[in-house]
Amino acid sequence: MKPLREVMRHVPSNVAVVTALHDGVPVGMTVGSFTSASLDPPLVSFFAGKCSTTWPLIEAAGKFCVNVLSAHQPQVATAFASRDVDRFGGRGWTPSPLGSPLLDGVLAWLDCELHALHEVGDHVAVAGMVHGAHAIGDAKPLVFFRGELAALE
Ligand SMILES: Cc1cc2nc3c(=O)[nH]c(=O)nc-3n(C[C@H](O)[C@H](O)[C@H](O)COP(=O)(O)O)c2cc1C
Repeated sequence: MKPLREVMRHVPSNVAVVTALHDGVPVGMTVGSFTSASLDPPLVSFFAGKCSTTWPLIEAAGKFCVNVLSAHQPQVATAFASRDVDRFGGRGWTPSPLGSPLLDGVLAWLDCELHALHEVGDHVAVAGMVHGAHAIGDAKPLVFFRGELAALE
């Protein structure tokens, strides 16, 4: 069997930035593991690596916004996956109704409260209760496929 990482490169994923306000400071991380989990109650999910330094800050905030990136935002995905950069520097955002950072120009956003956590190997499966879900216009999504960020054609 080929190593899992090599095979999963061929499975396209959406790209989202999960944001929170931690002690008044905006934090966020890029994820490719965002998915809908339950309709009733409305739950969404993503996986956070146990080595992530941002995830514990989001967990402490107890709520988060999932910002689904649009095709013209590959630089946003890269910034929020990089260490030693000012991820929010020069980027516009406004507080969501629950108070988490809502990034300008996203395709869709979901305002969530932390609902449940499950350890899954070297990641934590995070379930969020959705308090608000919005899709904006007809913009195309950003996808991650074979190691590259690209617009969906
Ligand atoms: C396209 C893409 C998808 C990613 N998906 C995830 C993910 O689902 N879960 C995760 O923990 N990290 C994911 N990462 C990596 C994190 O964005 C990155 O490791 C992390 O933000 C590093 O900084 P941190 O220590 O602040 O977490 C992804 C990165 C990229 C570029």
